[in-house]
Amino acid sequence: RRRVAVLISGSGSNLQALIDAGTRSDSAAEIVLVVSNRADAFGLVRAERAGIPAVVVDHRHHPDRAAFEAAIMAELHAAEVEIVCLAGFMRILTPGFVEAWRDRMLNIHPSLLPAFRGLHTHARALAAGVLVHGCTVHLVRPELDDGPILVQGIVPVLPEDDEARLAARVLELEHRCYPLALQLLASGAVRVAGERVEAAAPRLLRHPLL
Ligand code: GAR
Repeated sequence: RRRVAVLISGSGSNLQALIDAGTRSDSAAEIVLVVSNRADAFGLVRAERAGIPAVVVDHRHHPDRAAFEAAIMAELHAAEVEIVCLAGFMRILTPGFVEAWRDRMLNIHPSLLPAFRGLHTHARALAAGVLVHGCTVHLVRPELDDGPILVQGIVPVLPEDDEARLAARVLELEHRCYPLALQLLASGAVRVAGERVEAAAPRLLRHPLL
């Protein structure tokens, strides 16, 4: 089983999905460390409940980005981490850090990339009038919300949707997509060919209403 760290900043519901999937006997991944840049992240409580070591690396306690990232890197190395999952981790990582984890670091983003990179994805999807929305798990590249796509989850946008309803529908699917993507990567079922991922397994999940 590959040793996985999950980096969070908040609620950690995706972390929870990864923890739950990691307890399955056929899981190729084991969550061995949780890193939060915020001491008040609820995800830290989830880690504690699951008996997973968790550390806070607060960016405000470091003079610059390089020092902040060096502190995270030290924690990852100390725990002999092989794969990093960004799960609602709201700090931008420098190219140096990203390249150190090339093809071994995943991120989940609440849109169908390459549409709606950045923040407020659900509000922007509603404003754009798209009929299909969703989430993407991708390998991290230095460019924000860019990189080879492992798994996408699609949800319908319904006429009565507001931001909160749409966000909840997407989040439900995120919790299925992230464990699938991690399992694919950790089990060696995917091959990264340049900027595209190749896999024999299905990589698209759909909401029951689709
Ligand atoms: C998730 O919706 C995730 O896709 C999003 O933050 C939420 C974290 O929720 N990530 C980003 O917006 C990254 N820019 P969680 O803490 O409950 O997993």
